[in-house]
Amino acid sequence: MTRFKFTLLSGTIVPLVVGLGVALATSEPSGAAAPTGATQTAANPCAAKNPCAAASTAPGACVVPRLAQAAMKNPCAAANPCAAKNPCAAKSPCGPANPCAAKNPCAAAPAEVELSREESAAAYACLRDGIRSALEKSGYGPIQGYFGWQNVAIAPYQSATHGMRYVNNYANAAAGAYARFEKAGKLPAGSVVVKDSFLAEPDGRLSAGPIFVMEKMPPGFLAASGDWRYAIIMPDGSLGGQTNGPGSANVAFCIECHAGAADQDHLFFLPEEYRVTAR
Ligand code: HEC
Repeated sequence: MTRFKFTLLSGTIVPLVVGLGVALATSEPSGAAAPTGATQTAANPCAAKNPCAAASTAPGACVVPRLAQAAMKNPCAAANPCAAKNPCAAKSPCGPANPCAAKNPCAAAPAEVELSREESAAAYACLRDGIRSALEKSGYGPIQGYFGWQNVAIAPYQSATHGMRYVNNYANAAAGAYARFEKAGKLPAGSVVVKDSFLAEPDGRLSAGPIFVMEKMPPGFLAASGDWRYAIIMPDGSLGGQTNGPGSANVAFCIECHAGAADQDHLFFLPEEYRVTAR
């Protein structure tokens, strides 16, 4: 399975993606009641003494209760409450444009945090409003309204190749055949596949991640990418890069890795256990 081959590369690739992971504090409380599995936090008594905790417990932030409670039992947290957070992330000096990324300290991969399907679904539900406002703020035309498209993932799953983030895969109407997975064939121009993402930290904190986009352009757009235009929308709504557009170099690594699936139109699909039933 090609998928696993690329998982092995994640040691070098993940940092590139991670460098983009400017954590988003989802400051807007969701209107709907948070479902079980992810809740928005109340004030943390440890917060005042601990500058890292302060950020993590901002009212309205989404958390995974099971992990947050475990972290709380260990009052004011493990030796280094900041450890889970990539200290480089805020400054983001390690974006994909930086060729030294693999060697620099930002290379530390984020911890592998395992969420149940219920937890990942609840986490996503809590973060959705924040993701939606980043989407709208971005004004990125090809993906507006994607929440209304088909999500081929039954629950967000963890993607080693996209910074260990939990992700979904949405396909627009033109990309309808995407839901047939390996039998999809070549998708037509106008197809758009959107992978939105979030990060779960060991202490239960959740933050929205980038939105990864593949848009099929007319033939002749770019042979190396199979005519896909890649784009990455940052959690603050800014455009991190777009193939043959602004910040094109920042998304060159997307093309390179996805070219490993050139025999299936540069698409990797998702782990079988997370797929909606193929049509
Ligand atoms: C190291 C390899 C690798 C890199 C780098 C990579 N991807 Fe992916 N991508 C995958 C794999 C594997 C999948 C399917 C499994 C998954 O989601 O983890 C995937 C799935 C996707 C999908 C869903 C369509 C599909 O292939 O089924 C989109 C959209 C996507 N990636 C966008 C991007 C963008 C945008 C970038 C660059 C910012 C990027 N990817 C970088 C490996 C990679």
